[in-house]
Amino acid sequence: MGEVLNNWENGRWIGQTLEVENGVCAVPSKAGIKDLEYNDEVKEATDHLYDEVSDFIPKFEWPAYAPLVHAINTLKKEKNAVILAHNYMTPDIFSLIGDFKGDSLGLAIEATKTKADIIVQAGVHFMAETSKILCPDKTVLIPSMRAGCSLASSITGEDVKLIKQRYPGVPIVTYVNTSADVKAESDICCTSSNAVQVVESLGVDKVIMLPDEFLAKNVANQTDVEVIAWHGRCEVHARFSAQDVRDMRAANPGVVVLAHPECPPEVVEESDFTGSTKAMSDYVGDHKPNNVILLTECSMSDNVAMANPDVDFVRPCNLCPHMKRITLENIHECLRDEVHEVKVPKSMQKKALRAVQRMIDLPPPAEKGHFDPLAAHKPIKVI
Ligand code: 13P
Ligand code: SF4
Repeated sequence: MGEVLNNWENGRWIGQTLEVENGVCAVPSKAGIKDLEYNDEVKEATDHLYDEVSDFIPKFEWPAYAPLVHAINTLKKEKNAVILAHNYMTPDIFSLIGDFKGDSLGLAIEATKTKADIIVQAGVHFMAETSKILCPDKTVLIPSMRAGCSLASSITGEDVKLIKQRYPGVPIVTYVNTSADVKAESDICCTSSNAVQVVESLGVDKVIMLPDEFLAKNVANQTDVEVIAWHGRCEVHARFSAQDVRDMRAANPGVVVLAHPECPPEVVEESDFTGSTKAMSDYVGDHKPNNVILLTECSMSDNVAMANPDVDFVRPCNLCPHMKRITLENIHECLRDEVHEVKVPKSMQKKALRAVQRMIDLPPPAEKGHFDPLAAHKPIKVI
C-alpha cells in the first residue's frame, strides 16, 4: 500500500483540498507511464474499443491512450477493483474504463451493490466520500485529492451545528455535494435527481436545504414545503444566465434546452427540461430531439452524444476544473500504487451513513427528477 491521504489539518476536519492550478486541467503525473507501450498485446486487447471514442480521439493518438486503457483494465481484474465514473468524466474515462456510469445517486447506489474490494471514484471528492460512507470496509481511492467542489467547500459541519442552534427542530436536507462532516450533521441527504421527493418525504412544512442556493430555490418552486437555503453555488452552473438561453434559442431555432437544477431558477424557467445528469441523458435517449443544448459541464454532451449519434448537440458548456483533475494517467497511478485513499473517521461515517442511507431507502423518484419550468418563483430565505 502506498501513500494514504486523510483529510485532517491541525486536528480539524477539512474535508477536502480545493487548490486550482493555473487554469482548469490538472497536470497528471507521468510516473510509470513511460513503461507502457503500444505493442501487439495492447493492440489486440484494445482495438475493439476505439470505435466508441473515434469522435473524440483521432486515430493517430490512439497508441497514446490504448496502453493506459489496457493497463487500467488489467489492474482492475488483478485487484478486484471497479471504477465508478460520473457523467462529467471525459469520454476516454467514461467509455473505456468506467464500470458503472451515472449521476451522483446512481453511483452511490452502485457502491452499495459492488462486490469489488477497491472502488476507484472517477469523480470528485464528495462522491468518493459518499462511497466510503456506504462501504466503510472497502478501499476507496480517488485519483486526485484535489478534485473538490465549490458547493462542498462552501460549508462545514461546524456551520451546520450553528444552523441547528438557530433553527431547532427544522430538518436539515443536505445535498450529497458536501463533505462527510456536513452529512454527519444532517437528517437526510438528497441529490439532484430526488431533491423534491426527499423534501416532501419528511412530512413537515419547513426544511433547511444545504448548501446549493439555486437547487434550494428550484426545489422551493416545485413544492409547498417552505425551504430555507444556504448561499453555496456550483461555480459551473451558476455561470449560465436566462439571457444565454434566449441567445442560444435565437441562434438555433427549434433547439431543445436541458438544464441541471444547480442552474439559477431563471435558467430553469427558460429551459424545456431540468433534471439531474442522468435525467438529461435519459431525456435525450427517450425523446431524440433533432437539436439539443445541455446547460451543464462540457463532457456531459460528449458522453450523451456518443450514445445518441443521430442527435445534434449545440455545445455551449462550462468546464468543472475539479472533475477535469481526473485523468487516465492519475487513475492508472492511483490503482497501480493504491494511493489517495479516502478515509472517514468511524464516528463521522456512522452519523453520515444515517443521512445517506435514509435517502437511498426512498423508492426511486417517479418523475425522473424533472423540475417544471412553468412553476411560479417563490422568494425564500437564504442564510
Ligand atoms: P448529478 O447528481 O446530477 O450527477 O450532479 C452532480 C454534480 O456535481 C453536478 O454538478
Ligand atoms: Fe461541484 Fe459544480 Fe463541479 Fe459538480 S460541476 S463537482 S457541483 S463544482
